[in-house]
Amino acid sequence: MIRHQLVVVGGGLAGLRAGVEAKGAGIDVAILSQVHPGRSHSGAAQGGINAALANNPEGHDDTPEKHAFDTVKGSDYLADQDAVYQMTQDAPPAIFEMEHWGCPFSRYDDGRIAQRPFGGAGFPRTCYGADKTGHYLLHTLVEQAYRRQVRIYMEQFVTSLIVVDGQCRGVVAYDMIRGGFEAFVADAVIIATGGAGRTYSNTTNAIISTGYGAAMAYHAGVPLKDMEFVQFHPTGLYTTNILMTEGCRGEGAYLINDLGERFMARYAPSVMELAPRDIAARSIWTEILEGRGIGGKDFVYLDLRHLGEQKIAEKLPGIRDLAIHFEGVDPVTDPVPIVPSQHYTMGGIDTDRDGVTRMPGLYAAGECACVSVHGANRLGGNSLLETIVFGRRAGKAVVEFLAGGGGGRAAPAAAAAVEALAAVQARVDRLSRTAAGENAYDIRAEMIDTMKLNFGIFREARQMQEGIDKLLSLKARLPGIGLRHAGGAFNLDMIRTIELEGMLDVALATAVGAFKRTESRGSHARTDYPNRDDEHWLEHTLALYRSDGPPELDVKPVALGMFEPQERKY
Ligand code: FUM
Repeated sequence: MIRHQLVVVGGGLAGLRAGVEAKGAGIDVAILSQVHPGRSHSGAAQGGINAALANNPEGHDDTPEKHAFDTVKGSDYLADQDAVYQMTQDAPPAIFEMEHWGCPFSRYDDGRIAQRPFGGAGFPRTCYGADKTGHYLLHTLVEQAYRRQVRIYMEQFVTSLIVVDGQCRGVVAYDMIRGGFEAFVADAVIIATGGAGRTYSNTTNAIISTGYGAAMAYHAGVPLKDMEFVQFHPTGLYTTNILMTEGCRGEGAYLINDLGERFMARYAPSVMELAPRDIAARSIWTEILEGRGIGGKDFVYLDLRHLGEQKIAEKLPGIRDLAIHFEGVDPVTDPVPIVPSQHYTMGGIDTDRDGVTRMPGLYAAGECACVSVHGANRLGGNSLLETIVFGRRAGKAVVEFLAGGGGGRAAPAAAAAVEALAAVQARVDRLSRTAAGENAYDIRAEMIDTMKLNFGIFREARQMQEGIDKLLSLKARLPGIGLRHAGGAFNLDMIRTIELEGMLDVALATAVGAFKRTESRGSHARTDYPNRDDEHWLEHTLALYRSDGPPELDVKPVALGMFEPQERKY
């Protein structure tokens, strides 16, 4: 049994920033990560991070208030406005801190951090490092974690929480290197495991973005909030869904249909390709549904040719490489086939602005959490910002919790750890006793296709009901799953099998929330309820886990007060 004051689950930007904060205040911190932190999915973020620095001449009078307004409008008024304002106010100091820690941002000739336009933003306020911003921020924070000697346990797959009298006191993890389960006892736990993109078959997300952290909290009784809001990034590569950053359009790239039209003129004439993601993704999908996809197929073109080789080399070198290697197309000479692709989970573990959840001792930050600053639709460039701002705040909140006597006695935590360890081991033993049982990969494949087909960009009651029935039938098949090889080192088969139950439960929370919400708002577009309905639905959805069926749903008020909800026009 291993003991630390704080265990952070997840070594991406939010987890690292939380760990750095707590360690800096003298807390004994351990970060448990499935991969080397430098390989976390935060590193796949390309286009940038928002902050009202007002460095771009076209945004010289930008302010955190204007950033907050754009974010709330982009969220279709579902974001909590106090949390949004907190984030936009904290943004400039967060960027300067990363700059001082050595993050290599792109710069203007006078040395100030450069800013590019992004969708739904009234001003060019997205700071960037070419098109590798997440990678640069991640490595900057990995350095800071090492510098402070934060203890990092790599190749750890966390399976469950240790709970004593309703309080979180640690986690159980499968140590892939050693090949066994281990209990980590702690006074507080921060979950920072990223999104649930892999519950869809058409995602930009990494293989580890399964929603397993959110599922752990959910299974332990903490509600998930607003899971029905799923972001489809307008521009994923056609054959792989790999991200082509919004920075392409920020730098001036066009979206083109089969007729050679810049079709965004039909949908968002004042901002064209820089419409928010929900609108841009729906516009592309409408073109495809109406037969104007390229060659009548299900993709359109992202055209960067007019930007020229030099600008692409300077601002967008990464996406050029990706397009050449994964689509066989060089954006300098050819338009790039793209399709909207699942990209971001707006919902997540219900937290406040300090990452506090309903369970004492348990905190969450980053994409696995729902603060909520994104509401029904996140603006590009706000997710990297969220990780850093709310990772830091969660770390700080744990420091205060421990200073105030949080935590608890060692003996009951140790006893609960032994029980939790035994429960995981018993689960694996059960799975391996039915080695010849149902194949977990078949169930996973059916689940991710159901999410793509039944809970996609446009939704409608009958199709969603079919999807829910399908997910419930897959859940009913879980007890029959077999695991051919239990234990051993790097048993990815075991990990994929264990995580499946949580993925299905998270998918069901999305599905049931989407079915129940009889309106269209942000990313949740229902053809049978095409309008936003503030009278009945200006509220958050809470999903409460039920082991024997679909989740129970509840609601929570939205924090308003700064900006009156209006019709969203661009
Ligand atoms: O398009 C992008 O570069 C993605 C940015 C984001 O998700 O915020």
